[in-house]
Amino acid sequence: MTDIENRKETDKALDADPASLCIVRYPDPRLSQICMPLEKVDDSVRAVIDRMFELMFGFRGVGLAAPQVGLLVRMFVASPTFDPGDRRVYVNPEIIASDGMQDGDEGCLSFPNISCRVKRKRVVTIRATGRDGKAFEETGEDLAARIFQHESDHLDGRLLIDRMGTVAKLANRRALKELEEAFAAR
Ligand code: NI
Repeated sequence: MTDIENRKETDKALDADPASLCIVRYPDPRLSQICMPLEKVDDSVRAVIDRMFELMFGFRGVGLAAPQVGLLVRMFVASPTFDPGDRRVYVNPEIIASDGMQDGDEGCLSFPNISCRVKRKRVVTIRATGRDGKAFEETGEDLAARIFQHESDHLDGRLLIDRMGTVAKLANRRALKELEEAFAAR
C-alpha cells in the first residue's frame, strides 16, 4: 500500500465502530507496515484507545500497538502493572534515551502461544502525546522499558519473529506454522 492509501484506510478505520476492532495476528501483512503519525487525539482516537485497552486486558496483555488492531498509526497502550487503573497511552512515541541491557522472555498478542528471549535496553525514556492530547516524557525500567521497545517496534513493522534467532524459530516452529495456516484459511 502507498502512504496515501494507508492514510485513507486508516482515516476510515478510525471513524469505524471501535467495537469492530479485533486483534490482528501474524502473518497478517498489516503487522509489517511502517505506521504513520497521528495528526490529533480526538474523540474517535480516544474511542479506539478505549477499545485497545479492552482487548489488551481481555487477552491478558501488558501492551498493544495500533497495527495490532489493524490501524496503521503510531500509537500504543500499555499497563506494565496489569492493573486496570494503570492505563498508559503513547501517541506518536519516540524513544529519546536508553541505557543498560536486559535479557528476558517476551510474548505478543499477535503471536499467541509463542515466547522468546529478547535482549532489550533496561532503561528507556520515551516522549509521546497522551490521551488528553498533551505531550509528556516518561522513563521506564525493566518491564516498562521492554514494553516501550516492543510496542515501538510494532510501529515500524518489526515483530517478535524478526527478533528470533534460529533456535527460537525452531522452538516455536509448530506454533508459527499453526498461525500461518490459520491466516491462509481465513
Ligand atoms: Ni506485540
